[in-house]
Amino acid sequence: MVLFHNSTLTSFCLHFRQVNMSDTSVLHCPTVPLSNGLQIPIFGLGTSHFGGYSHDAIVYALTECGVRHIDTAKRYESGIPRRDLWVTDKLWPGDYGYEAAKKSCIDSCSQMGVKYFDLFLMHWPGSMRPGCSNREVRAETWRALEELYEEGVCHAIGVSNFLVHHLEQLKEDCSVVPHVNQVEYHPFQQPNKLKEYCQQEGIVFEGYSPLAKGQVLSDPTVLQIAEKYRRTPAQICIRWSIQNGVVTIPKSVKEKRIKENCQVFGFQLEELDMATLGSLHDERHVTWDPTDVE
Ligand SMILES: NC(=O)c1ccc[n+]([C@@H]2O[C@H](COP(=O)([O-])OP(=O)(O)OC[C@H]3O[C@@H](n4cnc5c(N)ncnc54)[C@H](OP(=O)(O)O)[C@@H]3O)[C@@H](O)[C@H]2O)c1
Repeated sequence: MVLFHNSTLTSFCLHFRQVNMSDTSVLHCPTVPLSNGLQIPIFGLGTSHFGGYSHDAIVYALTECGVRHIDTAKRYESGIPRRDLWVTDKLWPGDYGYEAAKKSCIDSCSQMGVKYFDLFLMHWPGSMRPGCSNREVRAETWRALEELYEEGVCHAIGVSNFLVHHLEQLKEDCSVVPHVNQVEYHPFQQPNKLKEYCQQEGIVFEGYSPLAKGQVLSDPTVLQIAEKYRRTPAQICIRWSIQNGVVTIPKSVKEKRIKENCQVFGFQLEELDMATLGSLHDERHVTWDPTDVE
């Protein structure tokens, strides 16, 4: 039985109350180890705020598809089954700074009805505080995340949209190396140097917008490969991320598509097709581009 309650706090926020499911509903999804020993499921469900949030879609993914990793953020919070789930939440720059970051994390926990997050990310390298450098604000905010980590409120901490120079500065200024960096990653946007840097530094590389918000699904090369494997273009792109060892979080609010997007573990793309998809990089950003953030 699944009981979710609509939150009165925000229309995006739901509180998890109780989920009982048989083991057979669990998606047997590989995990990727973080530097602190935790294992993040390589496949998760993305959620978003503008027309992209669906209570029913999340419940469907949890109960019918066995998804156990949900990607949320303060801007589009969603209720989540706790015990078996990997729950990622994000801190919006408006809540950067030591005190604000700690308060925001605790408030998000209580809004979602959870005691901890599996992963808590600084959403963006830029800050919104006049008179302070981004670097100073990032370091101050990260110290709050380090404490939340030590206190067990966040079982892992990370960043999102950080480039190499942001990560290098954080390394100089703070002590805990981020466990994860979540960045845009799909065949049209392959920041491979950043990915290699993260791998060298023990930072798990997680990719968002794996379908390029749908743009990649009509690409002729992707369509051709999909036909060869008798899979859908979305399955090909998600599988490509997974075979590259990238944690991936495709978003859909449609049950049929959620199911389709989960069915990516029963086949393997050949090396040649992986390379062909790897050649589609055209530097396109479909979300936002942190290149100019100091
Ligand atoms: N950290 C960050 O700064 C950041 C930024 C952006 C996104 N994210 C995270 O990454 C997640 C995914 O990224 P995204 O939402 O930007 O883009 P995406 O997952 O690449 O694409 C989502 C779009 O593709 C459609 N879609 C999904 N499955 C499909 C299928 N099988 N066939 C056809 N169309 C399909 C969805 O429509 P329907 O919903 O109508 O099916 C939606 O319009 C987000 O939800 C969020 O959790 C993080």
